[in-house]
Amino acid sequence: MQQAENREQLWPLIKQWRREGLTTALVPTMGNLHAGHLALVAEARKHADRVITSIYVNPTQFGEGEDFGQYPRTLESDLQKLEEGGCDLVFIPDQHTMYPLGLGEAMRLSAAPALSSVLEGTFRPDHFDGVVTVVARLFNLVGPDMAVFGEKDYQQLLVIRRLVEDMGYDIRILPLATVRESSGLAMSSRNNYLDQAHRNAAELLNTILRRAVDRLSAKGAVPEIVEREAEDELRATGMKVDYVAIRRADDLGMPDKIGLRLRILAAAWCGETRLIDNLPAN
Ligand code: PAF
Repeated sequence: MQQAENREQLWPLIKQWRREGLTTALVPTMGNLHAGHLALVAEARKHADRVITSIYVNPTQFGEGEDFGQYPRTLESDLQKLEEGGCDLVFIPDQHTMYPLGLGEAMRLSAAPALSSVLEGTFRPDHFDGVVTVVARLFNLVGPDMAVFGEKDYQQLLVIRRLVEDMGYDIRILPLATVRESSGLAMSSRNNYLDQAHRNAAELLNTILRRAVDRLSAKGAVPEIVEREAEDELRATGMKVDYVAIRRADDLGMPDKIGLRLRILAAAWCGETRLIDNLPAN
């Protein structure tokens, strides 16, 4: 596995692959890799000749008081996992490569408003602007033919699809279903923050969402009532609920017509740890 930390190291490798007619897939990550990330790498392998994984903890997508400083940085073990997972090139840019003029002077993108201001956007107002800003930079630096994103961050996946569409990137976005622990808990770097008691509660998040999907399938089910019931069940486990929402799967709008694809999405706090999860809802 090759390694690059800046443009000078990255571009000759990418250009060589291009000359050889090889396709490339990018797997953007913030490191602290787990089986969910390795599944993204494996998915990339299925579609492209060469797989590039980026590791960069992006400051512009963390809000004030969020866990940027505390976010786990585990480079040595990440490199070993990527090597074993069949990654061809790991791109570990430094701050200067990503934001050459510094954060204060950096150009920033704004994510599509309707998509980015709801759900996560309500609780993390600038988060998706930071995500599209860094993902656009990664796309520009790496120039991949495709990029893989997990459905675990479902809203992020839709925001990135819109970025590609709106900015005219010739990059195919490959989604991948959420990888879960045997309990159903969605794999996340933030699961590392959970102590045993909070982990027990966290493991119920997915069960409660699955139950809500079942309820929604009953004749005459009202989405708002199903949402409120799921919120009550989450609260009963001791979690603090940010939202449970049943939305149109394509654009997160309200489910105002029948026959549309729906998604149920939730965010809740287990102690100091904020967890998100989602499922297809029909
Ligand atoms: O999903 C993530 O890990 C991050 O939001 C991403 C896409 C790597 C951008 O920093």
